[in-house]
Amino acid sequence: MTQQYRTHAVAETAHVEENTTVTLSGWVQRRRDLGSLMFVDLRDRSGIVQLVFDPERGTPDDVMQRADQLRNEYVITVGGQVVRRDPGAVNPKIATGHIEVVVSTLTILNAAKTPPFYIQDNIDVDESLRLKYRYLDLRRPVMQNMLMVRHKAVKVFRDFLDKHGFIEVETPMLTRSTPEGARDYLVPSRVHPGEFYALPQSPQLFKQLLMVSGLERYFQFARCFRDEDLRADRQPEFTQLDIEQSFIPLDEFQAMMEEMMQTAFREVLGVEIPAPFQRMPYREAMETYGSDKPDLRFGLPLVDISEYVRDADFRVFREVLDNGGVVKAISAPGCAKYSRKQTDELVKFVQAYGLKGLATIAVQGEELKSSIAKFFSEDQLRAVVAAVGAADGDLVLIAAADRPTVNQALGALRQHLARTLNLIPEGQFKFVWITDFPLLSYDEEQGRYVAEHHPFTMPNLEDLPLLDTDPGAVRAQAYDLVLNGFELGGGSMRIYQREIQEKMFSVLGFTKEQAYQQFGFLLDAFEYGTPPHGGIAFGIDRLIMIMGNAKSLRDCIAFPKTSSGTDLLTDAPSTVTEAQLETLHLELRTSASHAPVGSN
Ligand code: AMO
Repeated sequence: MTQQYRTHAVAETAHVEENTTVTLSGWVQRRRDLGSLMFVDLRDRSGIVQLVFDPERGTPDDVMQRADQLRNEYVITVGGQVVRRDPGAVNPKIATGHIEVVVSTLTILNAAKTPPFYIQDNIDVDESLRLKYRYLDLRRPVMQNMLMVRHKAVKVFRDFLDKHGFIEVETPMLTRSTPEGARDYLVPSRVHPGEFYALPQSPQLFKQLLMVSGLERYFQFARCFRDEDLRADRQPEFTQLDIEQSFIPLDEFQAMMEEMMQTAFREVLGVEIPAPFQRMPYREAMETYGSDKPDLRFGLPLVDISEYVRDADFRVFREVLDNGGVVKAISAPGCAKYSRKQTDELVKFVQAYGLKGLATIAVQGEELKSSIAKFFSEDQLRAVVAAVGAADGDLVLIAAADRPTVNQALGALRQHLARTLNLIPEGQFKFVWITDFPLLSYDEEQGRYVAEHHPFTMPNLEDLPLLDTDPGAVRAQAYDLVLNGFELGGGSMRIYQREIQEKMFSVLGFTKEQAYQQFGFLLDAFEYGTPPHGGIAFGIDRLIMIMGNAKSLRDCIAFPKTSSGTDLLTDAPSTVTEAQLETLHLELRTSASHAPVGSN
């Protein structure tokens, strides 16, 4: 007779009729032995149910004896009857808490060693242990839930795009490098000594080629590889939802992407996101929030108070303003009574961002207490307080320096204050499109303009004449979608006319030969009838991190890398044998003893 493993998932037992006979399979969550009576919590992917082994209620002796062997994480199949618990024994914390299963049969399918940590949520263990035993970590409900959120979101996106006529196309993993700006992961070629493939940083050039091919609407869940410094929101390999479309104006494209995000939040989280999403020019984001990815769940804007302090007899501000710098302020709510030590900590915080210090005005009832009181009249201070909208109990923090430094430092301080003062509301999703990015930025080191996004980004057509006179002022038809302070996605309308492309290359200081050397195949393709097109790529890991309320990207990826790029489960990267190197025509400069310990 074939073994029957289950008639129901564990969680389904909550909804069956009393006395239904069920067969369940799963893992032993824990066992409580009360002598003549034993309770076992049985866990499967759907949840947990309480099993009762009780001779008085019909559990046979041999089953009682076998149940004695059960330990945490043993894999078992049980048969039994679903019964209602006594009112006093109901456990409101679990979905099946009003019932239990009185066991009549038990098969031990497999034993288990004692796991290095408990398989439950809210465990307090070192993350490296969780990553080493990732297969056990992924047994925890919180992790399984995250993978399910990810699965559901991906399915909603796929269905949405399918419904709107997008076709999923795979592009190569072994390719040439694309001009995305991070370092490439290289793969040596065995067949072509001394030559390398690059793993894709994104499918950018291929998706544009697919537009030349007449695909019109493309998408792909694309794995991307970037050898860059890692942070909590960056992984060396990550997944993009990559999208490109022909014959669509920018605003229509953005509206469709908004509808796609709305659909995902509705279907996965049951949350209704209002549309159209807010739009904010890059310049405004930088000036008001000190960031091109502002978190709009809270206020705390940066306010330019240069005009209010220009006439005061304060050398520090005066010199900054005379040198083209700026004086800006931010109001910290409820911080007027901060001690010297507390304000010193804020100063230390902004010093890491290049500011020398912070001037302060504390609003204490009718009184203003200020570190710069002797240089300012009462009226001047009141004007500053009014300009930043500070109220009784608030502390105005003032920074003076060149514009980028002030914006960056106060932008970081704004985030820091919001976090430490608990000003960030839970469960809110604030989307904003950042628009009108500069097309180019001047690279002092290279002594030339470089593309901010990439060289195929379409300039704002109104700004085209500026390419000759003031290239730094040209705006790009590029946009980022920002959610709660994270850059969720970025894209642009692309250049498709030859003259604009050539102009762009010349502003970037490329000769025709140099442009061909880097992008020859794309430029050739563009000669054969290229439609107007544009697109975007969303970071799926980041999106799931926000949707699932996770602290790091690692919690949204089944098998992630640590912040130093290692995989603690498989112990990658690792050294390889001499023979492997030889096949690839490689010789190491670093001796093997310097190389990280591997699994040769
Ligand atoms: P971009 O480089 O802005 O654009 O990348 C798009 C989105 O991918 C996510 N992302 C990352 N997520 C995790 N770890 C990383 N290291 C990482 N790097 C990027 C971010 C980001 O917004 N080809 C263009 C898109 C286009 O123009 O259509 C591109 O790759 O969420």
